[in-house]
Amino acid sequence: MTDGIYTEAFECRRDRLTLVNREEEMSSLTALVQDARAGSGGIALLEGVVGIGKSLLLDRLVSALPADGLYVLTARCDALEHDFPFGVVRQLFEPVLATLDEPQLTQLLSGSARTAAQALSGEKLPGDALLPTEDMSYAVLHGLYWFTCNLAAEAPLVIVVDDAHCADMASLRFLTHLARRIEGLPVLLVLSQRTGDEATDAALLSDIAGQPLCRVLRPGPLTHQGVGHLVKTVFGHEADDEFHEACLAITGGNPLLVHSLLSVLRLGGRPPTVEGLPYVTAHDGAFFHEAVRSVLQQQPESAAAAARALAVMGDDALPEVCARLAGLDDATHSAAMRALRSNGLVSEVDDGRRWSFNHGLIREVIVTDLPPEQLAQAHRHAARLLLDAGARAEQVAGHLLMTPLPATEDWAVTVLREAAREASFRGAPALAVDLLRHCLPAEGPTPEDTPVLVELGLAEAGVDPQASVRHLQAALEHVHEPPLRFRLLSSLASGLIRSGQSLQAVRLLAEEAPTVRDADLQRLLEGQRLMASAEDLTSFTVTLQEYPFDISRPGDTPGERALIAAGAGLCSVRAVRAQESAAAARRVLESSVPGVDSPFFLTTAATALLYAGLPDEADAAYQRVMDITRQSQRLLLHGLCQALRAEAHYRLGALSEALAATRSALNVVPPRHWGRTLALPVATQIHALIDSGDLAGADAAAAQAFPSTSLDTWQWNEFLCARGRLRLTHQDPKGALEDLLEAGRRQHLWTRTSPAVSSWWFWAGRAHLALGAPAAARELAEDAVERARKGKLTDALGAGLRLLATTESGARKLGVLEEALSALDGSPARLERARTLVDYGSTLHACGRTEAARETLRQGLDLAYALGAAQLHAQANDALLATGARPRRVTSSGVESLTPSEAQVARMAAAGGTNREIAEELFVTQRTVEQHLTSVYRKVGVSGRRGLGRFFGPGSTAK
Ligand SMILES: Nc1ncnc2c1ncn2[C@@H]1O[C@H](COP(=O)(O)OP(=O)(O)OP(=O)(O)O)[C@@H](O)[C@H]1O
Ligand SMILES: [Mg+2]
Repeated sequence: MTDGIYTEAFECRRDRLTLVNREEEMSSLTALVQDARAGSGGIALLEGVVGIGKSLLLDRLVSALPADGLYVLTARCDALEHDFPFGVVRQLFEPVLATLDEPQLTQLLSGSARTAAQALSGEKLPGDALLPTEDMSYAVLHGLYWFTCNLAAEAPLVIVVDDAHCADMASLRFLTHLARRIEGLPVLLVLSQRTGDEATDAALLSDIAGQPLCRVLRPGPLTHQGVGHLVKTVFGHEADDEFHEACLAITGGNPLLVHSLLSVLRLGGRPPTVEGLPYVTAHDGAFFHEAVRSVLQQQPESAAAAARALAVMGDDALPEVCARLAGLDDATHSAAMRALRSNGLVSEVDDGRRWSFNHGLIREVIVTDLPPEQLAQAHRHAARLLLDAGARAEQVAGHLLMTPLPATEDWAVTVLREAAREASFRGAPALAVDLLRHCLPAEGPTPEDTPVLVELGLAEAGVDPQASVRHLQAALEHVHEPPLRFRLLSSLASGLIRSGQSLQAVRLLAEEAPTVRDADLQRLLEGQRLMASAEDLTSFTVTLQEYPFDISRPGDTPGERALIAAGAGLCSVRAVRAQESAAAARRVLESSVPGVDSPFFLTTAATALLYAGLPDEADAAYQRVMDITRQSQRLLLHGLCQALRAEAHYRLGALSEALAATRSALNVVPPRHWGRTLALPVATQIHALIDSGDLAGADAAAAQAFPSTSLDTWQWNEFLCARGRLRLTHQDPKGALEDLLEAGRRQHLWTRTSPAVSSWWFWAGRAHLALGAPAAARELAEDAVERARKGKLTDALGAGLRLLATTESGARKLGVLEEALSALDGSPARLERARTLVDYGSTLHACGRTEAARETLRQGLDLAYALGAAQLHAQANDALLATGARPRRVTSSGVESLTPSEAQVARMAAAGGTNREIAEELFVTQRTVEQHLTSVYRKVGVSGRRGLGRFFGPGSTAK
């Protein structure tokens, strides 16, 4: 059998095609490559229907790129593999990784890029690796991003992803993550997307398309002249205008259809004339199907079998395995493939090691023409062949997924379970669930299926909580070893909570904890029960009535510490127990053992410190917990901790840090994963935005949609408080008061009565005043002051007195404000201090003490400026001008002239942070950090980061 037997019937040989009518797109893309080489990152999204020529354009772009001084990474997404996490990412990076030696690799995968290895390595997991409790993907994403930065630091990158609409979800998330941060990187991201097809995640793709840097290119239909070109390629000679016109009318100028039309004619031995056209009976895309079928029908059976085998195996398959599947020996198989190649159906890829169809549609045609049973049979056979050839579990399992349920053979079940473990580990729980469901017998699981049931139940936790609960409950009967039983109960409780059954979770934990025959694990479950009870008001009220809350124990074991932390967290919301809770929380944090204590409970302990008016200690504790959650890749907890830390920053008056932290929290955990607790980061964001003078931003944050389940949470109280304050800022005291009093009413129901927990009472007092009801404001102030005194809550005391002062006048007012200032003396709550200074200064002025007023207002003004509290700064400035002071010259140099963000970056740089580390910590691009630093150098008059120590290092006076 030689190539010569076959006619070159199906003229799709891409390498021989001239690209027509794409000059504009090519020059846009080439310009973007130039920009990336010059350090300006960019994105291009190529959009169009099937066959408009996206892939061909990308191919031509890639082959036109210089081989030196540029990393060109390419991937083609494949619907067959779209379930496999990071498949596309691996396609992109693996060829580069293969060219690097060990030390280079270690360097590229160091630091923050470390977790990229999880996505990139094809290594198997250790056999006993348990399913992760949480979606792992964030840490991996972040790692991949930094890995990309590291690689780009060596040479500019051009990343080309064809057919991004069917990229696997994990890779798509990475591409989005990168796209959002590409600005200052020497990286060009080029994606193509087929329109009209269902995308893996349309929202992610439109997120990319919506990036300011993204250029969307839409290649148009061929022109008259373009069609002429193609006619010449296929027939070797030109046709007349009338024929071109008719071709355009039939195909709409779609190059693939034009090609197919011409091929059908040629295969039928017709010339390119209008008279031949009626021969083409099919319409639309059917030309193409007909063309493929005709070619195949003209082949001997061996070539058709080889084509079917490649269609089933997919483009990545090894030729030997395809040959087995086709039932051919290697020599016949490779002759058959060459024959298909000479007909334009397939090409050699990967330096001739593998074969691939020239167009995805060719495979589709072959697959649709196979009867379903035969197709399933072929996939099962493919799975077995791949397993024998030593393929990765996920590859084998991919074929098993194409066969009807369930997999009965032992080898198949083993492979599916292994693939499921890998999938969970790489951040694709939904796939893990699919794989495991394939292992369960249709008529229901038997006790022998318990291990699968456990794995399935755990994997379903975040995907399908109700099914998870069902499966874990069924498994529970047969699992007795304490650690596994503990794990099951714990996950089952989380599942119940997620499906809105918190009370059941609390009951389950109460009843079943004793069946775990290990005292400390029982305590952990009890701690979890306490935390679960804070999930809704009913269960919380029940727990409060029943539970003794003894938090005085020493905390020698992880279980005890968990229990104390939970108790402290719940008790700290009442002023009278705030300091006792703080002491207990400190004990827990100090005696906690890294890697042993659950970061969840440590977060709770930190929150007890926050509510006890110790935001600085809480901040440090959150930071430590976040180091753990980052390492152990617990995404949801990491986000929660970041949100609480934002609150600590806010209380410390570090507004830009607070905003960066809320941004990062909402970035780490996308809104839909926050679920009912979304209100927490949003509330902090609103407060911080109002203070920084960004009312439009605050309005947007307040207007977003929340899940309806948010309402039955204490986090919603915080949102009501923030929204109420926002309404007050918008001069709507009535609307404000409604929200704020409702927040207060709910806080009361939740026994969150400490004035340090939430500031609803303060803003409600201000709203009362605005509505001319000072007595009501006074009542709130007095209540807060009294509780704050009892709980030794200095910040709340300061705020309470400040509110009280607004109901006084003259010397009494001055006296109360002085008391507030002295309460705040030494407190880290700088924003509260700045506010009090401004109020005090204004009152001094009203009392005729102009000089003292100016002095105080200047202090307040400077502090407000340093904190980035734009609203307060404006207020202080007005008050200062009212005293007759000359307007303050806005300093344009020196440390005082730095914006809060600049100061923050400068502090971190002075502390030794590299641009990368700072960017990572603040969730901004490296380019932004560079810009800030350049501006800092200019303003403080130094030439580089070494000069910063003088201003920001230890012992310097700059804040
Ligand atoms: N500009 C062009 N000049 C000449 N031929 C073209 C051009 N664009 C596309 N073709 C022809 O159309 C075929 C299909 O193009 P291509 O595979 O690039 O389409 P696509 O847009 O990537 O489609 P899909 O959405 O299916 O991926 C090519 O193999 C080629 O024969
Ligand atoms: Mg394509």
